Amino acid sequence: MALLLLLLLILHRANLVDDSHRYRGPTAAWNRVSAKSASVRQMPDGGVTVRCGRLRLTQVPVDLSNLTIRLFLDKNLLRSLPADSFSDLFLLDELDLSHNQLSSLEAGCFCGLASSLRFLDLSSNRLSMLDPAALGGLRAHANLTHNPWHCDCRMQLLTPQLDLDPSSLAEVVCQTSDLPNLGMFTFVSQSVC
Ligand SMILES: *[C@@H]1O[C@H](CO)[C@@H](O)[C@H](O)[C@H]1NC(C)=O
Ligand SMILES: *[C@@H]1O[C@H](CO)[C@@H](O)[C@H](O)[C@H]1NC(C)=O
Repeated sequence: MALLLLLLLILHRANLVDDSHRYRGPTAAWNRVSAKSASVRQMPDGGVTVRCGRLRLTQVPVDLSNLTIRLFLDKNLLRSLPADSFSDLFLLDELDLSHNQLSSLEAGCFCGLASSLRFLDLSSNRLSMLDPAALGGLRAHANLTHNPWHCDCRMQLLTPQLDLDPSSLAEVVCQTSDLPNLGMFTFVSQSVC
């Protein structure tokens, strides 16, 4: 019963997307479709698991329940993540973004998740840079494998500023490297959330 009510609530809210001030881009139709075809399950602990894998999504659905604890967006067509993509999901514990086409993570894209997120899967994307402005503050265990990491001295300067679980960084394998350029880059860290 609770699940049915929740589903109705989500569908009802999804129908309002076009008129919503929270509308974030040109593909609202996709979001409406995706919110409807997502599988939403309430777990015994009250948390909600949302599965939106393999829906050819080009952006993160809006109006996801703020009770979402696990969000699966794997095997879609996401290319970048705008700031505040998940900032309403203050209970989010696990986020799967694997097998997308992410080549960039905008500053602040994970804002709001620092205290809740424990598992972040960014594997099998097109990421080449670890950017603290995007990942800053997260203490999650991140799966960063299967990305074309470009290791240069900038990357070396950046990694100490990440709070990610250390084993996450141990898994980063450099695909390209130009470390002879040591010392050419500077980086100013700032909090963006
Ligand atoms: C969660 O969303 C509901 C509406 O769906 C809203 O009433 C409630 O205030 C939200 N909770 C928080 C803490 O934002
Ligand atoms: C990380 O992701 C890769 C590729 O998606 C997968 O094969 C591997 O099992 C994952 N590792 C962990 C620890 O989840």
